[in-house]
Amino acid sequence: MSLAADARVLWSLLRGQQRGGDHASRLQAFYAPQAEQYDRFRERLLHGRAELYAALPLPEGARIAELGAGTGRNLEFLGARVAGLQRAYLVDLCPALLAVARRRWAEQPQVAVVEADACQWQPQEPLDAVVFSYSLTMIPDWRQAMANAFAMLRPGGVVAVVDFTLAPDQGAAARWFWRHWFGHDGVRLDPAHGTALRALLPAHQLSYHRAPVPYLPLHTAYYRFIGRKPG
Ligand SMILES: C[S@@+](CC[C@H](N)C(=O)[O-])C[C@H]1O[C@@H](n2cnc3c(N)ncnc32)[C@H](O)[C@@H]1O
Repeated sequence: MSLAADARVLWSLLRGQQRGGDHASRLQAFYAPQAEQYDRFRERLLHGRAELYAALPLPEGARIAELGAGTGRNLEFLGARVAGLQRAYLVDLCPALLAVARRRWAEQPQVAVVEADACQWQPQEPLDAVVFSYSLTMIPDWRQAMANAFAMLRPGGVVAVVDFTLAPDQGAAARWFWRHWFGHDGVRLDPAHGTALRALLPAHQLSYHRAPVPYLPLHTAYYRFIGRKPG
């Protein structure tokens, strides 16, 4: 992948998220200039998404939602299982990324692309799984988004999360660096996410990982979490 091909994305990342306006307009201003290049660059930045989707315990005819789904790329990780879904909702607040998702899933009537806030949107029927892929860290009221996801699930359904974090074994300097590096782009690293998920869903699997960051000689930390609602 060449520097020239990544230039638009790198420029957006270096410029960072604007300060003024509401959350939705900040997301649109940040993502619109890079929406068409988003997927190619994030293949090298957002690790563990394929593994998370592969591990989703979905019944035949499952109903699922991804909250903060962006371009809808992650649903492709289900491969042939997409055809067996009863319903998949791709929910996001950013019109520029949702336009890519709509194009991508135009031929699949079971996939609904929804412009809405993950903290408030609710489906009409209980779901088997709700996924957050690198979105909890970008949702200011992430506790409300978690509670909202929990409320969407049928008893026995799962919340699945993959996201950046500050790993327990990272030193103070690394923690400071990653907090500020990601914070510039509106990504808020907070170990409280993991604490809250574990408390909300005591029956869970959780793993920590390290992964490279494009153009940096460093590795960042991310986690994968799948927790089952009692019932
Ligand atoms: C880093 S992107 C991840 C996109 C996608 N899940 C992926 O894995 O490529 C974070 C996404 O969260 C969305 N987002 C942030 N806050 C949101 C909110 N309150 N409601 C819905 N989506 C939100 C952003 O618009 C963006 O698409």
